[in-house]
Amino acid sequence: MGRHDTYFFCISILLLHNTLTNVDALACNWGTQASHPIPPNIVVKLLRDNGFNKVKLFEADPGALRALGKSGIQVMVGIPNDLLATLASTVTAAERWVQQNVSQYISKYGTDIRHVAVGNEPFLKTYKDRFVHSTYPALQNVQAALVKAGLARQVKVTVPLNADVYESGDGLPSSGDFRSDIKTLMVSIVRFLADSVSPITFNIYPFLSLNADPNFPREYAFFPGGGGAAGGAKPVVDGSISYTNVFDANFDTLVSALEKNGFDANKVEIIVGEVGWPTDGDVNATPAMAQRFNQGLLNRIVKGQGTPRRKTAPEVYIFSLVDEDVKSVDPGKFERHWGIFSYDGTVKYPLSLGNGRQLVPAKGVRYQAREWCVLSPQAAAGNNGGASAEYACQLADCTSLGPGSSCAALDPAANASYAFNMYFQKMDHRRGSCVFDNLGFVTKIDPSRGSCRFPIEIDTSRHERLRPPPRSSGATEMKWMTVAAAAMAVGWTVFN
Ligand SMILES: *[C@@H]1O[C@H](CO)[C@@H](O)[C@H](O)[C@H]1NC(C)=O
Ligand SMILES: *[C@@H]1O[C@H](CO)[C@@H](O)[C@H](O)[C@H]1NC(C)=O
Repeated sequence: MGRHDTYFFCISILLLHNTLTNVDALACNWGTQASHPIPPNIVVKLLRDNGFNKVKLFEADPGALRALGKSGIQVMVGIPNDLLATLASTVTAAERWVQQNVSQYISKYGTDIRHVAVGNEPFLKTYKDRFVHSTYPALQNVQAALVKAGLARQVKVTVPLNADVYESGDGLPSSGDFRSDIKTLMVSIVRFLADSVSPITFNIYPFLSLNADPNFPREYAFFPGGGGAAGGAKPVVDGSISYTNVFDANFDTLVSALEKNGFDANKVEIIVGEVGWPTDGDVNATPAMAQRFNQGLLNRIVKGQGTPRRKTAPEVYIFSLVDEDVKSVDPGKFERHWGIFSYDGTVKYPLSLGNGRQLVPAKGVRYQAREWCVLSPQAAAGNNGGASAEYACQLADCTSLGPGSSCAALDPAANASYAFNMYFQKMDHRRGSCVFDNLGFVTKIDPSRGSCRFPIEIDTSRHERLRPPPRSSGATEMKWMTVAAAAMAVGWTVFN
């Protein structure tokens, strides 16, 4: 090998090594608020086939935790906010939670649980002070319970927080600090986590920054060169640093907040617990925009790229794996479309995962018969089914019909057909679910047109039923308003 070759050889080894180590840490959120969830064993296969080896659950879902057993995938198990008060009240309650929801799965199923996420964005401004007093004691009790169970070295605690726990008075990252009303609490929690050699976790949403404000500079929401158009954002200049995207600016606001309060941001382990882009339900939620954002994000993950103020890359959990058709739409219709995969595990848009690997779809999903419910052709002339469609949409997911969404261009008859079909699918093609005052008609011809897909639901009865139906949330959705407000406060004011 010549000198030149040796040089390239070494570079290749370095790059390969880098790629391997970082692709080793592909992580995502697995939310299960779906009417027809993909069976957990198929989801676990989907994760593995795509090289995801870390997954975050929002609660201790038995089906998911069992299916993840001996899968080689590391798990973060969430504790919903409504359990915080109980876990804060006594160590015994925390011990029971750890026994039932952690120890049991590790010993019986070989589930590789590595983190317990105590609460989900508990200090969101919109929650007022509801969880402000219970979160820290719950965290301490869960940690004590893990120690008592002999698991504290393997299983680390953390608290996923919304980015509105920090802010910047002048909009520049260097002025970042924790929100004044919870500053002391935040410092205590960060110190406790650092002392327990545990990570801190924050959720960052550039989509919401863009979506909340018509004046937000669009390019600034994306990573420069992140697939598709070249990044052309006018940088935000903060001292010697020029910020080209809101993710970096937001993250570095956190870094400043940590440093301002005496922490060395490079020594504290930081996880980005949620970040992603939805594909439908809003003008800014398109597959092309989601692809551009997520490809930019993945490129950074693969490269192990940090931010200007913190060179160490955070661990990043992409939000989200699959679409969830029963999530609350209070934050917006996009809320049901965050998946990099559709509801059934099919690929929405290509994503390169490093090492030349592309997303691959779920295998083995079983569907209902290839039948759709549409507005009867006879009815179409006189009655466009509006009232029946309205009814169908109260019970099924019509978030793709809104302005700027994938089915927004349908004429009124096709629009009604879409609504009929969504109801018919949700009801598992049950007898009587395609009647609609005799306006409904079952067809074997796929009514999909253009970007508007008329789905066939998953046949959950043909899959082994491993899990109980999803709980309706309720608590987690108010967050979006505040998240957007917080992200907006960071780094865009200079554009006005
Ligand atoms: C285990 O987690 C589930 C799901 O969050 C919860 O309903 C249950 O109460 C937990 N078990 C204990 C003993 O707290
Ligand atoms: C489509 O149907 C839904 C549900 O009835 C309705 O809210 C919406 O206005 C309709 N859109 C059009 C273009 O007809």
